[in-house]
Amino acid sequence: PSVENTHPHTDCGSTIFVVHNGIIENHAYLADALKREGHWFSSETDTEVLAHLIERVITAKQGSIVLEDAVAEALRHVQGSYGIAVVAKSEPGKIVVSRRGSPLLLGIGDREFFAASDTAALVRHTRRIVYLDDNELGILMPSGYEVRNLRKKPVTKSVELFTGSLQDVEKGGFDHFMAKEIFESPDVIRNALRGRVLYRDGSVKLGALDSASNEFAGIQRIVIVSCGTSYYAGLAGKYMLEELTGIPSEVVYASEFRYASFPLMKHALVIAVSQSGETADTLEAVREAKRKGALTLGIVNVVGSSIAREAGRGIYNYAGPEISVASTKAFISQLTIFVLIALWLGRQRHLSLEAGQEILRELQQLPNKAARILSQSPSVAVIAEKYAANNNFLFLGRMYNWPTALEGALKLKEISYVHAEGLAAGEIKHGPIALITEHFPSIVIAPNDSVYKKMISTIREIKARQGTVIAIAAEGNKEIQKIADETFLIPQTIPLLSPILAVIPLQLFAYHTARVRGCDIDKPRNLAKSVTVE
Ligand code: G6P
Repeated sequence: PSVENTHPHTDCGSTIFVVHNGIIENHAYLADALKREGHWFSSETDTEVLAHLIERVITAKQGSIVLEDAVAEALRHVQGSYGIAVVAKSEPGKIVVSRRGSPLLLGIGDREFFAASDTAALVRHTRRIVYLDDNELGILMPSGYEVRNLRKKPVTKSVELFTGSLQDVEKGGFDHFMAKEIFESPDVIRNALRGRVLYRDGSVKLGALDSASNEFAGIQRIVIVSCGTSYYAGLAGKYMLEELTGIPSEVVYASEFRYASFPLMKHALVIAVSQSGETADTLEAVREAKRKGALTLGIVNVVGSSIAREAGRGIYNYAGPEISVASTKAFISQLTIFVLIALWLGRQRHLSLEAGQEILRELQQLPNKAARILSQSPSVAVIAEKYAANNNFLFLGRMYNWPTALEGALKLKEISYVHAEGLAAGEIKHGPIALITEHFPSIVIAPNDSVYKKMISTIREIKARQGTVIAIAAEGNKEIQKIADETFLIPQTIPLLSPILAVIPLQLFAYHTARVRGCDIDKPRNLAKSVTVE
């Protein structure tokens, strides 16, 4: 980001101004041609070529062409996607808009007209909306508006009345942001992978690591610092990193790291994980790590946030804004990014090409598998309703799904105010089993992995004490269905990726429980979305 790259973009003489949502794919080719003709570019954006293309048409016609025709003519040369709005000094009082691939809507007000790329931007001003289709062009003037195709032929458009509320638009048809965000998980996984998979190399492209590959290849220890849900993502990340890279890794609460005399030897990498990028403890932990000479890397969702800037190098989640206080889609995205980092580092070391490719194949199947789980949300709701009156829950998992258990418990605490404890399942007999009664249900995460048999033993131990078991198991599993009180099946995947799927039913469980209990789901009491104080 820079002032030069900020919209609107303009032509050589600053007479035509363009705002653009989308990407002009052949911009480099067009810019080269325009520069050869003497056009002078002042930004690094793809958008600026549009202004110069329009300028070229107007100059060729010696000004005897109206703006809408010049825009239509210029767009004939463009490949890619766009939603644009154009104004020209020579024709004040006129806005020309057009779209291909990117959304564009007109708002029809009372002697005023609007153009926007989203209904949410219009509802404050008007509820009468014209939805433009690809290759259509709109002309907005104080006296009225007109829609035509790029060949100047008028198109009759119907004005639609939007009857929902602003909140409805923003929540995308869901009752709560939390539900909307959980249901975004397939897209969140796709966004984390987009443009990063190098299947032929069994590896991934990560700008932050690629640009300092020697430094990253030489690291000997990894310390992950974070808070809350991001801490639990880090805990799973530690297991992923150790399995794929063999580099000793640990996770430390940022609030502990910043004050403890934490020894960081040479060649240490400190990874800071934060959805908001503003958590005070995590930010300070990054500063402390830098002071101690460690290499720092951020996994951050909010672009340009303090932690993203402080860490210097980073990988963005691109998970989109997370509004609900309880973090859901960000967790799924953070886990996905950890797999990518572990793959990148692993391929620099001993991880084989085949193993890398297998992980990539499995990763690419995750969005559809996540969608299959989401389609089962009503079954989770039935289970949640049945147990919503209970005031205590245990969440149990091992290895990759110990963090899942901790996160499942945290979600339930945060939004339904039910006491829940997450445990490494092996620890249950060292105390917590004393709590088990039929009114103290255990949620046991037991996919098909190397600790599956151990999880079966845990379930049996609980059942032997008249405890209630709600199990998360892999599709096709018949054994657990026979012994657990409730079983929710999730698609099979490799153990490394299982928390990404297993956490979804737990997020849904917390959501449906909070609903039944009548809690304020998106804004739970006493909690803040980002904790910018200690
Ligand atoms: C707060 C939020 C949690 C979040 C934690 C860390 O406690 O309520 O949902 O996990 O901060 O936030 P961060 O933005 O650093 O991931």
